[in-house]
Amino acid sequence: MLKFKMIVVGPLETNCYLVYDEETRDCLIIDPGAEGEKVFPVVAEENLKPAAIINTHGHIDHIGANRDMKDKYDIPLYLHPADKDLTTRFHQLELSLFLGAKDSPPADHPLHDGDRIRVGNGALRVLHTPGHSPGSVCLQAGDFLLSGDTLFFEGVGRTDLPGGDARQLERSIRDRLMTLPDETEVLPGHGPLTTIGAERENLSFTE
Ligand SMILES: [Fe+2]
Repeated sequence: MLKFKMIVVGPLETNCYLVYDEETRDCLIIDPGAEGEKVFPVVAEENLKPAAIINTHGHIDHIGANRDMKDKYDIPLYLHPADKDLTTRFHQLELSLFLGAKDSPPADHPLHDGDRIRVGNGALRVLHTPGHSPGSVCLQAGDFLLSGDTLFFEGVGRTDLPGGDARQLERSIRDRLMTLPDETEVLPGHGPLTTIGAERENLSFTE
């Protein structure tokens, strides 16, 4: 049975998640955006064994503590290849200084639609959901979905940043996320948790 812990990090209040197998304590670190020092004690308190880092996309507020996680746990980093340039081309230098973000090491493994990332006796299924960024992914495990910056409580991801595409975002949400069961719990990259059913009510895409 996979469970999760949420840790809010950095000035943009990014939700970093630890997704773990309740029995084996194997754990994936999703979007360590900043403030590694807030993540480490939770890993220790919960007796978790980090196995990998996964970025839902390459924006700086989601990747800023990748290096801290690598240095501490020596584990591989997963990212969709379409967002590779966002992490390695460190063009948002001033922003990164403000956010306390460190440049990210390159990904060790590409994420692709349909991949299953094993953790303990469970797995996260990768859904490629471009729109907020070209390489945005959501990660599904049983009855919950890590939605990155694609879907939020009462909202959807912005598409005005480089590589953003409003039509793609709409397709991703309609075709990939709204086909999930209503009761699926949604764990967004910022803000409160929600469900697929609640957001189905809120969606206001115009045909
Ligand atoms: Fe983002």
